[in-house]
Amino acid sequence: MQLYAISDLHLAYEANRQALAAMPPHPDDWLIVAGDVGESEAHLKFALHILTQRFARVLWTPGNHDLWTMPNKADDRRGEAKYQRLVAICRTYNVLTPEDPYIAWPGAGPNYWLAPLFLLYDYSFRPDHISAGAALAWAEEENTVCADEVLLHPDPYPTRATWCAARCDYTEQRLQALDGAPLILINHFPLRQDLAILPRIPRFSLWCGTRRTTDWHLQFAAKVVIYGHLHIPGTRWRGLTVTGTFTVRGARAWKIAQFCACRAGHML
Ligand SMILES: [Fe+2]
Repeated sequence: MQLYAISDLHLAYEANRQALAAMPPHPDDWLIVAGDVGESEAHLKFALHILTQRFARVLWTPGNHDLWTMPNKADDRRGEAKYQRLVAICRTYNVLTPEDPYIAWPGAGPNYWLAPLFLLYDYSFRPDHISAGAALAWAEEENTVCADEVLLHPDPYPTRATWCAARCDYTEQRLQALDGAPLILINHFPLRQDLAILPRIPRFSLWCGTRRTTDWHLQFAAKVVIYGHLHIPGTRWRGLTVTGTFTVRGARAWKIAQFCACRAGHML
């Protein structure tokens, strides 16, 4: 029994849908899906239909693309309503979400709690000398603007930053209630600014997380933090916590051979 993780499937691309369909079965293993399955409910259903047949258990957390409201889809929901709709879809497939009780990993090793989180970002991953009000202009200086600015709506919150703050409040309370139990945190976005390093588009860091979670791996004694979003796979240590991205490099040209979930068990 192994724990696997994957993220950033981006199923808008036909090649990615074909690659997902070719994923081999893992009947005894669990899979973490760390966000950005696609940009529509149909993409999420496509993925969960396949993955829940290939894995014994699937856990999901939303990425920014999953939360987009597409302007050409008249009945699409916005913000919190969109998120809750995605949660409802996951539940029809018995897939665990950030709204469900955390679950204990039943495999080998310590009895870790697996905690899928939805924390979003608040533009605080910026240099200290850039104010919050100047952050977007700072990114635009290098022609960096995330499509979330027009497609990811924060309703009913006034801004994505206030939605992020509400998500952090909610999540912090739930994690505190675990009372220091061994923990694996799962979030689409990295929890620390020093992990949101994007060499080709460094100012995209604004859309990559919140400084509120900088010390969460210490505060909650997380053994492992799993995230995606960056499209730069790898593992890094922060204190006694190992952090890992389970994304595949590049969203478009995945080769089927590359498109397999990475085993997260070696990090436990
Ligand atoms: Fe993302």
